[in-house]
Amino acid sequence: MTAMTAPNRSRMEPYWLPFTANRAFKANPRLFAGADGMYYTTTEGKQVLDGMAGLWCVNAGHNQRPIVQAIKAAAEQLDYVSSFQMSHPLAFEFAARIAEIAPAGMDHVFFVNSGSEAVDTALKLARAYYRAKGETNRTRFIGRAKGYHGMGWGGLSVSGIGRHRKDFAPLLPETDHLNHTLDLEHNAFSKGLPAWGAHLADELESICALHDPSSIAAVIIEPVIGSGGVLPPPKGYLEKLRAICDKHGILLIFDEVITGYGRVGAAFASQAFGVTPDLITCAKGMTNGAVPMGGVIAHDKVWDVFMRGPEGMIELFHGYTYSGHPLACAAGIATLDVYRDQNIFERAAKTAAKWEAAAHALKGMSRVVDIRNVGILAAIELEPKPGAAATRAVEAANLCYEKGVLVRSAGDALVLSPPLIINEAEIDRLFSTIADVLKAID
Ligand SMILES: Cc1ncc(COP(=O)(O)O)c(C=O)c1O
Repeated sequence: MTAMTAPNRSRMEPYWLPFTANRAFKANPRLFAGADGMYYTTTEGKQVLDGMAGLWCVNAGHNQRPIVQAIKAAAEQLDYVSSFQMSHPLAFEFAARIAEIAPAGMDHVFFVNSGSEAVDTALKLARAYYRAKGETNRTRFIGRAKGYHGMGWGGLSVSGIGRHRKDFAPLLPETDHLNHTLDLEHNAFSKGLPAWGAHLADELESICALHDPSSIAAVIIEPVIGSGGVLPPPKGYLEKLRAICDKHGILLIFDEVITGYGRVGAAFASQAFGVTPDLITCAKGMTNGAVPMGGVIAHDKVWDVFMRGPEGMIELFHGYTYSGHPLACAAGIATLDVYRDQNIFERAAKTAAKWEAAAHALKGMSRVVDIRNVGILAAIELEPKPGAAATRAVEAANLCYEKGVLVRSAGDALVLSPPLIINEAEIDRLFSTIADVLKAID
């Protein structure tokens, strides 16, 4: 294996990093050589507390031995097999295990390789579902402002983050967006789900009236907006969306790429919040981040429509070379074992109260205009710098890193989603570092 030492500058040139200021990064790279539990080790040997679970994905902490061993064993046994008209036992086992922990009635899993592919697959499933039912007019998708659904054309079209969309227009034309639910006047500093804001779901009725509900295939939302700044849904909001979708025969897709696999204290946010969608997209925590993988979990009602045609016919002309890859399935099964054997979801649910208290203890610090939390997710929203929006949180996140704590910025918010195994001392360190940094910045 190539040594995990920092490359010299010229050796860095060929690699085009995603979502990164490449030239600035290469002048001052942030390079990791190892990871274990709650910590990364940099190429200089510095320990960094991971306040982001990698990128919202390493839910059980880094370097979980059962997962590492499962990947090694799978690689030695079966390096690759296609999933088109053939397969391997681990794929069936993994799908069955996911169905066991998914909401009741959501019993079918389509494997993909990322969250973006999961979202595009779910959108395609929605259109194909209505085509199979003869409702060919239902082609429109409704997303939400501040929503993030990956970087595929479909996901980007329903995304609600303007900067992500800007350079790539035109996107899918038949989309519209709900507003998000953040309103600092009414729901700032809510602990958990805001009490104010359920009525905002009624906007879906206006969108239906505008476009004709029979033109809408699906509404796609993250139950908790993640990358857009950690926005938990107001109490009753998801229930209302579900009811309006049911009234008009529209499919409801929950993008659980972040909230899936324990992040909010249950296997899926759908269960934590008691609202069952028709399709769930997932990825990230599905393999604890160890091998790229994503999936769409479909309700029986969707599956049944696809299974009505002649038995010898392909039901869905869709899939990827690496769908159900043996290494990913092995990692996924071992990940579910770890979640079960180490009570990871229950631990997250128990830790949530301490997490909430530690986050909200920052209330009253100068420039903190909102604190949001749910499960093991939190955002500390800072007042924007006049004329320089989104710079204060970047500065704060960089200073945290200098102090050995990895957090992310999203607009003017610091966003936190550590591995679910975080203990009380680590929670204290995370928030006390942020407090120190907030005292130090302009
Ligand atoms: C809610 C949501 N959907 C989709 C994606 C895209 O996932 P990926 O980066 O694996 O394509 C992400 C990634 O952060 C996400 O948070």
